[in-house]
Amino acid sequence: MLHARRLLTITIAAFAVAAPAAGAAGLPYEDPSLPIPQRVADLMSRMTLADKIGQMTQTERYQVYDDASPITTYRLGAILSGGGSTPTDNTPAAWADMIDRFQAAALATPLHIPLLYGIDSVHGDGNMYGATVFPHNIGLGASRDPGLVRAVEHVTAEETRASGPQWTFAPCICSAQDDRWGRTYESFGEDPALVERMETAIDGFQGGPGQLKDPDRVLATAKHFAGDGDTKYDPNANGYKIDQGVSVTNHQDFYDKALRQYVPAVQDHHVGAVMPSYSSVDWTEDGVGNPIKMHANQELISGWLKGDTGFDGFVISDWEGIHQIPGDWATQVKTGVNAGIDMMMEPNSYQSFISTLTTLVNSGDVPMGRIDDAVSRILTKKFELGLFEHPYTDRTNIDKIGSAAHHALARRAAAESQVLLKNQRAALPFRGNANVYVAGSNADNIGNQAGGWTLTWQGGSTNVIPGTTILDGIRENTSGHVTYSQDASAPISRSAVGVVVVGETPYSEGFGDVGGPQWAYDPGDNGVPRPVKDMQLSAADKAAVDKVCAQTVKCAMVIVSGRPLILDPAQRNAADAIVASWLPGSEGAGVADDLFGLRPFTGKLPVSWPRSLAQEPINKGDANYDPLYPFGFGLTTK
Ligand code: BGC
Ligand code: BGC
Repeated sequence: MLHARRLLTITIAAFAVAAPAAGAAGLPYEDPSLPIPQRVADLMSRMTLADKIGQMTQTERYQVYDDASPITTYRLGAILSGGGSTPTDNTPAAWADMIDRFQAAALATPLHIPLLYGIDSVHGDGNMYGATVFPHNIGLGASRDPGLVRAVEHVTAEETRASGPQWTFAPCICSAQDDRWGRTYESFGEDPALVERMETAIDGFQGGPGQLKDPDRVLATAKHFAGDGDTKYDPNANGYKIDQGVSVTNHQDFYDKALRQYVPAVQDHHVGAVMPSYSSVDWTEDGVGNPIKMHANQELISGWLKGDTGFDGFVISDWEGIHQIPGDWATQVKTGVNAGIDMMMEPNSYQSFISTLTTLVNSGDVPMGRIDDAVSRILTKKFELGLFEHPYTDRTNIDKIGSAAHHALARRAAAESQVLLKNQRAALPFRGNANVYVAGSNADNIGNQAGGWTLTWQGGSTNVIPGTTILDGIRENTSGHVTYSQDASAPISRSAVGVVVVGETPYSEGFGDVGGPQWAYDPGDNGVPRPVKDMQLSAADKAAVDKVCAQTVKCAMVIVSGRPLILDPAQRNAADAIVASWLPGSEGAGVADDLFGLRPFTGKLPVSWPRSLAQEPINKGDANYDPLYPFGFGLTTK
């Protein structure tokens, strides 16, 4: 049945390529009863250099969308969707149809090696309209609930795989040391031990031994190896101030903050892929001033990760990551491959990557052994994923994408991630019949509440996804009268309690760095420039807090943001209760559940909350540690 449906899809697809049935020739590598190492060895013995280098190459969807034939011609091993890169019709079925069309082109190669498709399902499959969007990792870290994290990523895996991609570029196992970093929200927290507890994310994605081939699992990627969260803030940097920067550190400190998370990720959770960081490491033992790009770091990738730690999956470069290695293009390719990167994410230069690497192998600059190591790692994962037997999308779970059950989990995850920072006079929870006055920039904005990596790379205030805003949840949770006035201009009734939801607008990567670049060249922006990030409340949000808190019986300030924001004494004192909501995702109702006592506040700070920007970076264990709220802080309610 499924087979017939699949064939139909391929026949009607506009640019269909004849798809040979997998396993037709009955060669040893096509025999699922043989052990995977034997299948890999048999397949490799039949591959040309072009076949092998093709496997090491990943390009972007846009290169093959209108014409998938380069997949066949160049024998490409993998395709990705970058942030916001979707099929024209952004539906689960269109995703699956597109990826199956690409798969048909891969199967049309002489050896019919199936394609891997990767995507940034970093808080659910945010690129896909209709996917369940979960809290970003910083909120999951606040939950302190590894079981929740496993469940969230299992649902994410199910929604991702049912729509085609068998691979996610997640989780980030960075420990964000400096909250001025635009990727702080991708971190489970500043403490590597907390990050390690949350590596159940990998189990949620991949399942246990032998489960990668199941229709509800995807290959996971631990990123960004390593030190992405531990770079130095550079106020003079042209562009990004901290993202893609330099870790100035010694070996012991780097291990303690950046490397140790990879040991359990590899040895206990068996993560399938690792992505190097754009950042560099500069060892103080060697004398500062000699930064090594992580994409060029043979000592750490081949030596430490694959050698000492025993990583047996494959290393995928970051987006044009090798382009940042010093030297000309041939040097960049050679250095990256010889450092131990197995597959290159080359959205724009895949053809010249292939020709350059071919030349380097023929000249002996890249040893054949390195190529064989890379290809056998990649093929092993393709076999484990069951792609040789089932190359096309198994759509069994496609109707579960965005289901009520998945949204219920998103709501619970949002509720569990709330951190109650202040609760004077037991202001919270509010009663279920309270009259509520709601204000603030993030009370009724699902795009802001979802953050970056939602529909578009940068996310956006106008990016609307299915779900509930915090205001929707408040309306649901009280039988009293609800007044909503974003700027608090509507009259405030004397009997009302106040909720002012303040915070950030979306960003991703270096565009979120404090003082970082203003412009994000993302189609989703529609040409609207974004404000430079400053970790402060906007003047409008401050005014709303001041006004609402002065006129209501009691009031809560709820902060929707990817990181701690600097709170002025005025608003801090005016609010009876303060809640850190992080980026709760598609179910703002989960936030309202805590506000009204349907669920208790149980979250704990995953990062230290600074008093001022000047305290950054501030982390638990620092000398003279004096944050506004320490790591681990969080009040509880019943
Ligand atoms: C893509 C992102 C990618 C970024 C890298 C963007 O255009 O959409 O997925 O991470 O480029 O710079
Ligand atoms: C980011 C990665 C991401 C990749 C693909 C890069 O810019 O650093 O985290 O996986 O793009 O979108």
